[in-house]
Parts: sequence; structure tokens; C-alpha cells
Amino acid sequence: MKFRNIFYQFIFALVFSLSAFSQTKPVIQIGQVKDVKIGKQDVDITLDNAFAKISVYSSSVIRVRIDQKVLDADFSYAVVGKPLDVKSVITQNDQEISITTDSLKAVIQKKPFSIAFYTLDGKVINEDEKGLTTSWVSSSVTNYKKMQADEHFVGLGEKTGNLDRKGNGYTNWNSDVYGYAVTADPLYSTIPFYIGLHHGLNYGLFLDNTYQSDFNFGASNNRFSSFGARGGELNYYFIYHKKVADIIRSYTYLTGRMPLPPMWSLGYQQNRYSYYPEAEVMRIANTLREKKIPADGITLDIHYMDAYKLFTWNKDRFPNPLKMNTDLNKLGFKTTVIVDPGIKVEKGAGAYERGINDNIYIKYLDGEPYTGQVWPGWCNFPDFTSIKGRAWWRNEVKFFSASGVSGIWNDMNEIATWGQKMPDNVLFDYDGKQTSHLQAHNVYGLQMARSSYEGAKEEFKERPFILTRSGYAGLQRYTAIWTGDNRAEDDHMLAGVRLMNSLGLSGVAFSGMDIGGFTGNPTPALYTRWIELGAFTPYYRNHTALNTKSSEPWSFGEDVLDIARNYISLRYQLLPYLYSNFYEATQSGLPIMRSLAINYTHDPKILDAQFQNQYEFGNAFMVAPFESSKEYGKIYFPTGNWYDLFTDAKLAGNQEKIIQLNANKLPVFVKGGSIIPQQSLIQNTGEKPTDTLTIHIYKGDVANSFVYYEDDGKSYNYEKGGFYKRLITFDPVKKLINFNQVEGDYKSQFKFIKLAFHGFESTSGFKIENKKIDYTTSKFAWMGAANNTDPQANPYPPENCLIKFFLIKNEAGSILINY
Ligand code: NOJ
Repeated sequence: MKFRNIFYQFIFALVFSLSAFSQTKPVIQIGQVKDVKIGKQDVDITLDNAFAKISVYSSSVIRVRIDQKVLDADFSYAVVGKPLDVKSVITQNDQEISITTDSLKAVIQKKPFSIAFYTLDGKVINEDEKGLTTSWVSSSVTNYKKMQADEHFVGLGEKTGNLDRKGNGYTNWNSDVYGYAVTADPLYSTIPFYIGLHHGLNYGLFLDNTYQSDFNFGASNNRFSSFGARGGELNYYFIYHKKVADIIRSYTYLTGRMPLPPMWSLGYQQNRYSYYPEAEVMRIANTLREKKIPADGITLDIHYMDAYKLFTWNKDRFPNPLKMNTDLNKLGFKTTVIVDPGIKVEKGAGAYERGINDNIYIKYLDGEPYTGQVWPGWCNFPDFTSIKGRAWWRNEVKFFSASGVSGIWNDMNEIATWGQKMPDNVLFDYDGKQTSHLQAHNVYGLQMARSSYEGAKEEFKERPFILTRSGYAGLQRYTAIWTGDNRAEDDHMLAGVRLMNSLGLSGVAFSGMDIGGFTGNPTPALYTRWIELGAFTPYYRNHTALNTKSSEPWSFGEDVLDIARNYISLRYQLLPYLYSNFYEATQSGLPIMRSLAINYTHDPKILDAQFQNQYEFGNAFMVAPFESSKEYGKIYFPTGNWYDLFTDAKLAGNQEKIIQLNANKLPVFVKGGSIIPQQSLIQNTGEKPTDTLTIHIYKGDVANSFVYYEDDGKSYNYEKGGFYKRLITFDPVKKLINFNQVEGDYKSQFKFIKLAFHGFESTSGFKIENKKIDYTTSKFAWMGAANNTDPQANPYPPENCLIKFFLIKNEAGSILINY
């Protein structure tokens, strides 16, 4: 008996050590398909070394989940879009499983397992690299895709480097990177979503995994592109559409779209680290008004707090914050305040004790709160991945509504701590699925911004503005983002443009960068270029660090001040255009800053590093940013026809052109066919413009349309129909401009429309078809006040362009133009 036991023990030990040996293979391949269960829209697969589920999420989106263990219950901080009930045909034979929708076909090889995605006419969109497919090295999982001939990649969120990511590898691990190099990786945010381009096809791929993730677009290899994570499932969404704009639409269907921002947050924002005391804040606000620099926002950095303690005001510097903020409101300013996640450990201190009472701090395994050092000294950190942590923070946000604050700026939420080495073994609730820092790190910033947004939405009377430094896919649902601590250097200005364009390709429409640079001091020339450029970015804020020179628009002399004023004024005149574009972002996810990869995807020139900084601002403008040291710049004009914004000079598409660069002129071009609404100059968004909206129409060859959107810019009444929306179309073939019927109950603030025609050789024979529209005609100089007598009202003096204009009532109807 004893002998038999020893024998069995021996056999068991042998089997165990053999299986342990197989487990210690350096790389575990996914293996072959062993069992398949086909459902209505999904397939469950058991493999030699893994479990997989492939589901049809919509006709254009297929989701793939793979893990070495049985798949966990589904959970995501990024994905909010539910799977749609769509037609899908799923079949199998000995070799393969095929899934066909109305838009694409996925074929899964069984021996060994690999996936390929095809168009319905059989072209390969994307396929696993045979022999590599999916594998694990320890707990890291990676999927290898075959590098298609001439394949290129764009997107991946806040990533430095070229627009075309081919040949590079990237890591997602949210990091505090003060004064980062323009090549640094990773930065503050994680958006594991990219778009692949080849053979006239484009697809999107979103890896929803919050562990550190790594992407390789042919870096140090000529065989594959790959993506993977240091733990958790391989959980990705494959998106196929014919247009990149639709890929972004589907991606933002999954991860959500931005809410309508308050109008004031689209105005100019004045920041510095830090404005204090109150007298200084008021001086800045009054100077902006005195110098006729339109502005809407003042931001308070960490010195507003008492010894950097969250949810306090420094009473010496700010004795009556509510009164100050109310005074600022009267001057047409809204106040945004910074918040950091670290709560100072201090017995008896309000927020700290409330946090202890509510038991909301992240802790080590032994129950001791994690303590890290940041501005106030040693701090504990709320667990924003827990329901009660978020509820606690939402309640704390009352402190700001009571002080008359309108915006919350979430900083240091990577989590940033001195030493930058937060231990792996700190535990997070992860919404009831307790996990280590390794899985929670990349979503901490997102969940903090979410808590601030939800708190502010509950507590503030009007739509809040939320800004974050760190985030994860889906951050657009709660917050705008800015690109952190850049440097006052030319290549940073251009890198910032690419960062924002990449964020835009990755679902984030509302982004900004520190205009003028955070660290260091810009030259007047660089500051000039940057502030001009800022007028054509979604979030327009000037910010600078603690020990730098002043960076307000008047700090660089009168010439710079004039130019800054002109461009900020232009921004304010274009607010009806910009706000309509933000509305579009809430509906389709399309960004405000559009990399040329969105509308000119397969034109190889747009990926050429010489032209990669060019972008569209909405659909009408193309901006070409250049270093301030340059006297000439080469611009690529994609297909179509173009106009110089400031001279109306015509430029043919499909050409490269060298232009002379002037300090006071940002190269901005208007696409032929564009429809651009413009209002009279105001000094802040609380001020009413005149009752006439100018609508600029640029002659083009292709029919175009513009969704004009207006509401009160601050409340939630639009949710109950309190908006004014109409489609405006211009069909050059029919020579027809059409103002569709208005949708919504809101009354437009504009009674009249002044139609301004650009690029039409002769405007003599204009006819009004709809008799209901009254009109008068006159000569009109570009963009600014009609007679261009007031140089302050004009963003830039027009050079010889007289344009025919018609004044009509703001009503529905058509205008037939003869030219
Ligand atoms: C780091 C932020 O990136 C910066 O913008 C801010 O001024 C400082 N923290 C101080 O709060």
C-alpha cells in the first residue's frame, strides 16, 4: 500500500514537473482550435492554450477577446457603446470559421488559430502574421499582424513623433514628463487606438487593456505590426470603413463623444503658474479688457490653495473667493481652478479627515494607505476606481461651486509623485474587481476627470469646463485635455500640433497646448507664431511655468500685442463656426483639428514629414504651421481649390508651393466650397454680437454643406430642444445656396445674414429665387467690419479684396446665383 502511494506520488510529481516545464516555455503560442460554439453574433472558441470570443459589435466592428484563462465577465472603463443587433452570417468547416457582416468578413483559421479581415470583395484589410499570431511571454500578451505592403499608421492618441508612425514603437504608461523632449514616449495619456492605411483601405484597431501596452509599427523589424499588454486579456475592436471619418465615428460610438462645452471655454484663456493674490488676478483680467484682448477664462494654479491643500483657499491671498469670482464674472471672465489628486496627510485637516472617514484612499495589501510625496508634502490618494471614491470627490466639488468656480483643471493625475516610481503592489478597487497598480495606473487620470465632471455637472449651475492632463481612451466623454509641460521651443509648437492632431484621430476633439511654451521663455517671434496658431486650436490657453518671464499677450511689445489681439479677435469672430464644429464633435466624434489623414487619407504627400504639420480646422480652413525662424515655407495643397484667408488669392490643389512667411500672418487657407459663419467682434462670450451673421461662401467645384448650430452656450436646455440648427448647402453645379428649415426651439441671436461671396469672378447676375428673402447688395471688404475702418475690429487687414455681399433675413429659402 505504502509502496503504491509512493509510486503514485512519483507519477504525479513527474506529470506536474513536465507540465511545469511546458509552462516555462519562453513563449506560449495560442495553439489550435479545439472547440467552437457559434451564437447569433458571436463565436466562443476553446484553444490549446487559450479561450477566445469573437463578436460582431456592429456591421463594421468586430471584437476579439483572448485570454489564457476562461474569459472574465466583461468590463471596461473606455467602452460605453453597446453591441448592435446586426445581420451576421457565421459558418465553419474543418479549417476555418467565417463571420460575414454587411461591411466585412472575418476568417479564423483553426490550425493554428489566426484571424484575417477582408472586404466583402475579398481584399485583405488586416491579418495575423502567420507563425506569430497571438502569444504570451510571462503575463504579457501580444498580437502580431502582417505588415502589409506600403502600410502606414496614424493615431494612437497623445504620441510624439511623426504623423506616420511606421517604423516606430510606443509604450502606454501615463507619465509625468516635465519639460519632455519632443521625441519622449510615453507622455501623460493612453489611447490604444490607431488607424492603419494601405492599398486604398483603412481600418481602426482599439486595444482595450489598461495595463502597460506596447505598439510596434515595424520598429526594429520588417515583418509585422503588433500590439499587446503586460497583463490581462487581448481585447481588441477591429473597425473597417471606407472613410477615416467613419472609423472615428465608430470608435467614438464605442468610447463615447464629448458633451457640448460651455461657450466660454472656447474663448481665450489666460493662465500662469500662478496668478495670486486676488489683486494680481484682477489686474490681469482688467488689463485684458483695457487692451481690448478678448478673453473668457482666468485659471488659478496651485498657489490659490492653503499650502497646496486640496479644497482650501489661501485666505491671505484670496480672502473672499466667491466675491472675486463674481467680480470676474461681471467682467466677463470664468474661473478655472487646478486640482491634484494628492490629499495632504495632516491630522485634523478637513479633506484628509473626510477621506479617512469615508475610507476612500488607495492602500497597500496590509491596509495601510499608500503615501506619496507631491506639492503639499506626504499625501494619500483617493481611489477614483471605486464607487465610493468617486462619490466622495463629487461631494468635495461642492467646495468649488460655493466659491463661484466654473472650471476644474485636473493635474498630476498620472499619478505624479516625487520619485515617479509608484509601487506596483498598491491596490485599487477597479469597480469591485480589486487589482494592483499595474492594471489601474492608466485609468486613474480618466476616473479622476470623470469624478470632477460628474461632481461639477451636479453642482455647477451651468455646463462645467473640465481639463485633464492624464487620461485613457474615452476621456472625451468627460474632459478636454492639454499636452502638459512643453517647452518654449519651435519644435514643441509643431510637436504640439501633431499631438493634438493625433488626439483628434483618436476620438479627442477638445485639446490644447500651453501657448508660448511652459518651460523656458519664447522669443517674441515664437510667441507671435504660437499665439496666432492657438486661435486655430480647440482649447486656446496661454500658460507658463513658475520662474519664467511673463507671457501675457502684452509682454512682448506693442507689435506682438497687436498681432495677438488680431488673432484672438479673429477667433472670437469665428465662434459661430467653431461652436458648430464642436456640435459636430458631439454628434460624430470628428475632431476640430483634423489631420489631413482624415480627408485626404490616401494621398501619400500628406504623410510626408515636410507637410505632416498641416491640418484642417473644421472642414473649411487648412493651417500650415512653421517654425518662427523660417522665412519661407513649403505647403502642400491637396486636391480641390484653395484661397488665402487673408487675401482671397486662389491656389490650385494638388501642388506644392513655397510661400513667404510673415510674422503677422499665419498661413491659413480656405477650401473651395466652404461655408463659414462669422459674427461681429465681442470681448467675451457673454457679450452679444450684432444681429447680423456673416456667412462666407467660397467658390468651389464640389457641393458642400455646413450644419449651423446655436444655443445659449451654457445651459442644458438644448437637451429639451433649446437649440437652433439648420443645414446650409452650396451646390456649385446647380448654383444654389440653400438654407434649410430650422430645427429646435431656440431663437437665433442673428436676425440677418450677410452673405459674402469669395472667388466668384462676377457677382453681377445674382438672383434670389425665394421671394421671401429680402436682400440688399453692397461692396464688402473681407471678414472684419464691413468698411474696415476699425483696425481693431479687423483680425487682419485684407489686401485688395472686395467681395460682393447680400444682406438677407435669417429665414429658410434658396438663393440661385448666376456666375
Ligand atoms: C504641472 C502642470 O503640467 C502645469 O501646467 C502646472 O502649472 C504645474 N503642474 C503646477 O501646478
